[in-house]
Amino acid sequence: MHGSSARTRLNGMNDDLTAYYDRRATEYEAIYAKPERQADLLAATQALQAIFKEKEVLEIACGTGYWTEKIAQTARSIKATDINESVLEIARHKRYPNQNVAFEVADLYQLNPLRPSEALFGGFLWSHIPLQALPKFIQKTNELVAAGGTVVMMDNRYVEGSSTPIFSRDEMGNTCQRRQLQNGETYLVLKNFPNQTDLENALQGKCSTLQYIQFQYFWIAVWQTNTHTTGPCFCAAKTQNAANQ
Ligand SMILES: C[S@@+](CC[C@H](N)C(=O)[O-])C[C@H]1O[C@@H](n2cnc3c(N)ncnc32)[C@H](O)[C@@H]1O
Repeated sequence: MHGSSARTRLNGMNDDLTAYYDRRATEYEAIYAKPERQADLLAATQALQAIFKEKEVLEIACGTGYWTEKIAQTARSIKATDINESVLEIARHKRYPNQNVAFEVADLYQLNPLRPSEALFGGFLWSHIPLQALPKFIQKTNELVAAGGTVVMMDNRYVEGSSTPIFSRDEMGNTCQRRQLQNGETYLVLKNFPNQTDLENALQGKCSTLQYIQFQYFWIAVWQTNTHTTGPCFCAAKTQNAANQ
């Protein structure tokens, strides 16, 4: 999945997500410096640290390790994976005083661990999954954790004036942004902004509990995978609106 030149170009823009994040590695964390998002980032950090406390976590698409570093402060262990070595190189250089983090280059769809993990985290990845590919994505994440295990996704809400504007929308309802790297390269990046109902619909029948935590700029979805004994079922999402707290 590496390399941008062979991929589709639309309106002169590269749409290779893997290449985009590879090239963006050194400038990626600027997104976490936006002043208006700091209160949400702190609240989200506290929420994630509580959710993953003492847990054995598999992190998919960990990127530069912004959340890895925070979750590692309370988790028992983290195996942090990403498809791009360039971002892992940055993640490896963060401080992990508990020495409980291992990194691995891996395409999430190729992950095939010897045993499922207790919990899984994916930060800012859901938004990049085409709507039509969400069933496969959810099935894969659920397979990577033990029955009754915890899956957590976090992503952006669209906030006018703070989010990059939507550039285009396809016939499936997927939205794209036009993004430019510091070297001038422009990319067409698939970026969806699901609301609570969209998340509930996507996860219908695929989890036993679902909690939706809403901040002003972000959302966190926490679900428990079905246990083999009870079979597929679905409990209505419990919403915790954390915006402006
Ligand atoms: C928006 S970044 C999120 C990084 C990090 N989780 C965070 O929240 O800061 C998306 C990440 O997904 C990775 N990625 C994209 N497709 C992937 C795949 N199929 N398997 C694993 N990682 C992937 C990219 O390399 C990139 O680091």
